[in-house]
Amino acid sequence: MQNHILTIPQLGLERCQTILRLAEKLRHSKAIPRLSATVAVAFFEPSTRTRFSFELAAHRLGCQVVSFSASGSSLEKGESFADTLRTLEAMGADAIVLRHFASGAAYAAAGVLTRATLINAGDGMAEHPTQALLDARTLLDVFGSLDGKRIAIIGDCLHSRVFRSDYALFQMLGAQIGICAPPLLMPRLLQDAAVERFPDVNAALTWADAVVVLRLQRERMAAGLVPSLADYRRRYAVTLERLERSSAYVLHPGPVNPGVELDAAAVEHPRSLIVRQVANGVLIRTALLIEILAQDFVQPILCD
Ligand code: NCD
Repeated sequence: MQNHILTIPQLGLERCQTILRLAEKLRHSKAIPRLSATVAVAFFEPSTRTRFSFELAAHRLGCQVVSFSASGSSLEKGESFADTLRTLEAMGADAIVLRHFASGAAYAAAGVLTRATLINAGDGMAEHPTQALLDARTLLDVFGSLDGKRIAIIGDCLHSRVFRSDYALFQMLGAQIGICAPPLLMPRLLQDAAVERFPDVNAALTWADAVVVLRLQRERMAAGLVPSLADYRRRYAVTLERLERSSAYVLHPGPVNPGVELDAAAVEHPRSLIVRQVANGVLIRTALLIEILAQDFVQPILCD
């Protein structure tokens, strides 16, 4: 097996497109395969949407699901990360869904496993490939194709694994990317990367067909990168008023800090796709588990 899911570039365009198409098929299909597989969900960092949607997806497919949280485990007795993963594998896990605070943890974990498939559910500031897939699925639901579409990513791009995965996948799918971030939260990209940089959130909203708004990730941030939350809101927040003046759709991976990067009323706006993102999260993770654990089902579902 071992078809690890580590980053969007490692996954590649073809596998991404298979998963995106499978997810769409599953939305309309009543018959989903029953898999006799064991999925371990190992989270070393808090999560609501990602964790529950993976668990739900695995349950829907009839998998056995074991959930592991760092607190309360033998890590607290000094057991290493590698031994923890080997233990889950030895107990029969076919896939291990990993969320970890360290950037690069997914690659490190994949290197330890000999049989199980590693699924990166977010590692530090590095990548969050399934979030990008569900974001892309949500945009495809609205636009049909991302070719030539203008997508602006607004907020703390520097500390965001969602930014890195979205950026890679949206580009692969032919979109034009814009970035709007405070100077100290601008990601470091290749000099010649074909992105529009917007110092002004209104300009980004006017330019974009859709915006992905990101949270200030203060847990990963040195103090002082933004003057204050009030100042951040004044300059960069997608407020209801700003959204109303544009025609852009709005996405947010959650959790939202209402009134900081996005107004609560903007979350409820008719052009908000945030609830759709959550629903698509379950579909994408179901599709991903089928793609990894049940290759035999992929073509029949796609041809259905
Ligand atoms: C994101 C994450 O954890 O990377 N949320 C998510 O997975 N739904 C974004 C964030 O924490 O801001």
